[in-house]
Amino acid sequence: MQRIILGIESSCDETSASICREGKIVNNIIATQSIHEEYGGVVPELASREHQKNIVPIIDKALKHANIDKTQLSAIACTQGPGLLGSLLVGYSFAKSLAFGLGIPLLNVHHMKAHILAHFIDDPAPDFPFLCLTVSGGHTQIVRVNSVTDMQVIGQTRDDAVGEAFDKGAKLMGLPYPGGPLIDKYARDGDPERFSFSESDVPGLDFSFSGIKTSLLYFLQKETKKEAGFIDKHLHDICASYQKTLINMLVKKLVQASLQTNIRQVAIAGGVAANQGLRLRLMQLKETHGWELYIPDFQYCTDNAGMIAMAGWHYYLAGNVAQMNDSPLPRMPF
Ligand code: KG4
Ligand code: ZN
Repeated sequence: MQRIILGIESSCDETSASICREGKIVNNIIATQSIHEEYGGVVPELASREHQKNIVPIIDKALKHANIDKTQLSAIACTQGPGLLGSLLVGYSFAKSLAFGLGIPLLNVHHMKAHILAHFIDDPAPDFPFLCLTVSGGHTQIVRVNSVTDMQVIGQTRDDAVGEAFDKGAKLMGLPYPGGPLIDKYARDGDPERFSFSESDVPGLDFSFSGIKTSLLYFLQKETKKEAGFIDKHLHDICASYQKTLINMLVKKLVQASLQTNIRQVAIAGGVAANQGLRLRLMQLKETHGWELYIPDFQYCTDNAGMIAMAGWHYYLAGNVAQMNDSPLPRMPF
């Protein structure tokens, strides 16, 4: 009998379901919530309500697309945390009830670990150990990945995540949420050397992104006073220069981590891994440092259930099954 895992993701503003059959991702259905655009950020209560609307149709679609009935499922994998509590509750309660009703195991998945395990969806997968720069809206980490279940955070942000620096920077430029992909888009034909922003530094492999936002804010205030319409006129150059600074800060620590650990298998994961500028810079570094570089497909960078189903598959094989009284609170240790 084939082993089939249903993966469910609802930690922030994407409701997603995916079917994994014998270790292969069959589909990855995602409903993105556009309702937050007008508010300039994710509104937790609205996110939770949207998940409630989407969860049944999305799971139904994933099952139908894979041509299976829910009774054929072997286990259900779901994001347990970290994330927005109201959003997590929708996906996790649904997953738990369905698993209970079908009498099959529930598999708890740590959202950030799943971003890393997205590297096992497509071939070639990295060999162990590898370093993963995990960059999203809530996290910025360098993780030493020793095995599918053994991961160690060796560097992380002390304040804002880099995705937040993208989104808040974009907001200062008057762009809608989420601004990361828009900065990426406008930066493509901008001059990254046109403006400079100060890079903050912290010791070791940690990051700090709170200062650069303030640097952008003061810069925009000063220039707008001197020249009305400054932002619109120079948007592409501002985006390119701001993005270049964020990328510099990320790759500096990644190179340091690779030299320190002597690991040249390097991967990136999380929403910001979709950034074209970051991907290009890493490809250059691959040549300079002789790295084996792993960059996931775009659909597996931002939040998706494919990565949850893949993590679930590995936990299922390892017998890493949740207890029915586990809490959905985002308190999972990494
Ligand atoms: O992993 P993700 O989808 O959700 C979290 O787990 O947080 O990451 C979302 C973050 C947002 O900050 C978004 O602006 C950023 O990833 N992002 C990007 C790009 N695509 C998504 N940032 C820069 N360039 C992109 N192309
Ligand atoms: Zn994420």
